[in-house]
Amino acid sequence: MKNKIIVTGGCGYIGSHTVIELIENDFEVVIFDDLSNSTEKTISRIHKITGVKPTFIKVDLKNQEATSKAFEAHKDTLGVIHFAAHKAVGESVEKPLMYYKNNLYSLLNVLESQNENNINNFIFSSSATVYGTPNTLPITEKNETQRPFSPYGNTKKIAEEILDDFTKSSQDFSAISLRYFNPIGAHESGEIGELPNGIPNNLMPYITQTAAGVRDKLMVYGNDYPTKDGTPIRDYIHVVDLAKAHVLAVKRLLKKEQETALEYFNLGTGLGYSVLDVIKTFEKVTESKLNYEITDRRDGDVPQLYASTDLAKEKLGWSADRALEEMISSSWTWEQNLRNETK
Ligand code: UD1
Repeated sequence: MKNKIIVTGGCGYIGSHTVIELIENDFEVVIFDDLSNSTEKTISRIHKITGVKPTFIKVDLKNQEATSKAFEAHKDTLGVIHFAAHKAVGESVEKPLMYYKNNLYSLLNVLESQNENNINNFIFSSSATVYGTPNTLPITEKNETQRPFSPYGNTKKIAEEILDDFTKSSQDFSAISLRYFNPIGAHESGEIGELPNGIPNNLMPYITQTAAGVRDKLMVYGNDYPTKDGTPIRDYIHVVDLAKAHVLAVKRLLKKEQETALEYFNLGTGLGYSVLDVIKTFEKVTESKLNYEITDRRDGDVPQLYASTDLAKEKLGWSADRALEEMISSSWTWEQNLRNETK
């Protein structure tokens, strides 16, 4: 019998890529998703890529009864990877209560249902946003966390605190929190990728939509930061590399290799690229010019963020293989496929 894993938010961007990697590593996957920011079409695309159709349950994890019922049907699950959450930074500033309610109620309901059913392994989708403005670079897991600028970011920090308390209170429950740097790129099949709702907040989908003619021009938020070209530096990571790290984290939990009940790992490449580096690489890869303009800084942006990836390498045996060019070309292929589909 295959080991069964529940993936909440498995129809979303990082979730769907992780489902593929889990299936390719011979796990049985059950997806819980409310489709609030994703589509059920993803299931057939996963089927097309892997030859396996994961079980799908449409469930609103904010609803305790519905969550409990969904878990009840899958008591024989060994672990949960919890992606389901709202993630738009700007929207979270406008609607903080919606963000706290969605991201934290769902976390609590999932943990409670796991507890009821004795499902003792949990992987959390966290973010480098928990480091706030780091005092030292590269960022190691020992860097202190700070209150993130946005309510979205704060839901990640609070969730980690909840996990800390819960793992301490429970003998058997183990968790790994994976702190993502800047995930971009798409699956090489061109079948799945990021589907931003409305105007993208993030750099990569904004660039590809601008190049595809959906947006007029990219606004570069500030070129007066203390960096080599004045634009902020980030650690962009290919979503497929990120997905692979989740499989290794699941295996670590199942093999009981953990050193503490809650572990944290940074997931990045360890390399920093500026906004202008990304634009130039995009222009090179696509042999085209991107329409962009330098404008004022965006509130809450920090000058530089890049990961130390030593711990993930040592403990998970993971490191990112895919270079920026590949991240960008796969994002572009995905964007073009999306546009052809909507024509
Ligand atoms: C953002 C969130 C972070 C979240 C992550 C999820 C903020 C402050 N942080 O990270 O909490 O976990 O997304 O993916 O929003 N940029 C432009 N023009 C644009 C968009 C972005 O110049 O239209 C620049 C930004 O100033 C930044 C870089 O591109 O320097 C990357 O931005 P983005 O993709 O939004 O990621 P982060 O801000 O690093």
